Amino acid sequence: MSDVTTTTADELLVLANVESAYGPIRAIRGVSLKVRKGEIATVLGSNGAGKSTILKTISGVLDPNRGSVHFKGEDITAHDPADIVRRGLVHVPEGREVFPLLSVRENLLMGGYTRRDRDGLQRDLELVYTYFPILREREKQDAGLLSGGQQQMLAISRALMGAPELVLLDEPSLGLSPKLTREIFEIVVRINRERGTTILLVEQNANMALNVADYGYVLENGRIVMEDRCEVLREKDDIREFYLGMKEVGVRGERRWKKKKMWR
Ligand SMILES: Nc1ncnc2c1ncn2[C@@H]1O[C@H](COP(=O)(O)OP(=O)(O)O)[C@@H](O)[C@H]1O
Ligand SMILES: [Mg+2]
Repeated sequence: MSDVTTTTADELLVLANVESAYGPIRAIRGVSLKVRKGEIATVLGSNGAGKSTILKTISGVLDPNRGSVHFKGEDITAHDPADIVRRGLVHVPEGREVFPLLSVRENLLMGGYTRRDRDGLQRDLELVYTYFPILREREKQDAGLLSGGQQQMLAISRALMGAPELVLLDEPSLGLSPKLTREIFEIVVRINRERGTTILLVEQNANMALNVADYGYVLENGRIVMEDRCEVLREKDDIREFYLGMKEVGVRGERRWKKKKMWR
């Protein structure tokens, strides 16, 4: 596990012992993780593991009961979501929430609403159109008329329009075909490599995420049970067995947690 007490300059995001709940439901417990500048980090976990809760806690949508979130060395724990966006941290939530009655172009411009540099905004609009040419073709159409995959492209592009340093991506593969998923992940990698944008990706699709990310955490019942470089995680049979085994067991609880703990 990471040493949560020390931080270095290349650590863009640091969560230390974070616990968040929905009323009596403690969704994540003692979550500590780090995202280094310039990398793609991933949190893997099955449905209900707490992946979205981690991202909501980072972006200020949900206030944690315990623990801290630091971004660029500054404490942003429970800050206002708008303040966190202004600092350069943008969250693309699960379910690709675009504004359905605004055009594609209007959606993109909304993503840059905090920016004052008109030239930069125009440049980034061109840039996202080169990443996803279909968005240029559809720029005047209502976003609600786009396919699921195109809405995901728009949601990611809208986040980029804010020129963020860190993008939180919540299950971009959800509901998409393997082919579209691959396409989107290829662009995510390009964005990371070409723009240097740091990415924290949460996914149920372990294969896909482990192929694109540099460093990974495995989340089970709200706790991180394993972490390593993805090239190491990819080689572990436990990861594959765990994700296949999920379907058979299908129940959450102490028994599975203990079984999982043996990995360490
Ligand atoms: N709005 C909510 N109200 C109550 N419980 C919730 C809410 N959102 C999520 N949960 C619960 O918190 C846990 C973690 O959920 P979530 O973070 O959405 O998991 P994931 O994104 O990994 O599927 C689950 O047990 C889920 O049922
Ligand atoms: Mg989720």
